[in-house]
Amino acid sequence: MSSNKQSVETLSTPRDLVLWAEQQFNNANLFFGHGTDNALDEAVLLVFHVFGFPFDVSDKKLDLPAEETERARAIELIQQRIDTRKPASYLINKAWFLGKEYYVDERVLVPRSPIAELIAEQFVPWITESDVTNILDLCTGSGCIALGCAEYFPEANVVGSDISKEALAVAGINKQQHEAGSRVEFVESDVFDNIPQKQYDIIVSNPPYVDAQDMASLPDEFKHEPSLGLKAGSDGLEIVHRILQQAGQFMTDKGIIVVEVGNSQEALMEAYPKAPFTWLEFEYGGDGVFLLTAEQVKGLSN
Ligand SMILES: C[S@@+](CC[C@H](N)C(=O)[O-])C[C@H]1O[C@@H](n2cnc3c(N)ncnc32)[C@H](O)[C@@H]1O
Repeated sequence: MSSNKQSVETLSTPRDLVLWAEQQFNNANLFFGHGTDNALDEAVLLVFHVFGFPFDVSDKKLDLPAEETERARAIELIQQRIDTRKPASYLINKAWFLGKEYYVDERVLVPRSPIAELIAEQFVPWITESDVTNILDLCTGSGCIALGCAEYFPEANVVGSDISKEALAVAGINKQQHEAGSRVEFVESDVFDNIPQKQYDIIVSNPPYVDAQDMASLPDEFKHEPSLGLKAGSDGLEIVHRILQQAGQFMTDKGIIVVEVGNSQEALMEAYPKAPFTWLEFEYGGDGVFLLTAEQVKGLSN
């Protein structure tokens, strides 16, 4: 603690603060994976937030002497990140998805799904953008996937659904922040129970999929996230089974469904040994996301 104090006095610029935070975070063995995957990026999030810097701030600004209030606030946030193990996004109420800023708090998971990459590619080659009229994002949380889809499919209507009223309140904030208008609707629904009966061209979902064994060994950072967004029974497939059983009734003939199951991929393949899952690949990391066509989904129940 005393060596900590001593070094704090020497921190005079934003760059000093970032590099010091990186070192402190590495020493404290924090877990990263809530929007960043390393100590330096986590440090940048906190310090840049305090100084109001964009990510492409100039070197010159990074090296100017910091005002005492901002210096003290940055040190306070860095210490909170270590003491509480709260992911940086919850400390600053901000996360990024598809390059856009989202409001987040502990009512929703911090957006991090690799599905972002598929949205940016408009799900090519699996579907043609001009054929897409209706999109459903099941288990929407902060609304990031639904709002991302609305941006990349400017002619489509998007429904985002969640069982959690609290999560939907956050999705509502993001809908306003992104000025999504009437094309995006958020509804409260237990999986498909209250979904407007439409035929969707794309159903996309990042549902809860953490199995009991993984739940028991998650790093402390995950304990700040709503467990409703993570835990999914002994094999992690509680919600995914329900999605697969009913999805066929909500898809157009040429529709596709894309679902993230993360570490539960193996359990899913064991549960549906004959299912023709396409496991998607990602340029920027991530796995455990499958795609099925409407025909393939309907075939699962035969
Ligand atoms: C893994 S989080 C994903 C949030 C968001 N789609 C994302 O990618 O950041 C899963 C979400 O599913 C919701 N959820 C849990 N059980 C559900 C259910 N039975 N029906 C609908 N949503 C559910 C949780 O409230 C949570 O917001």
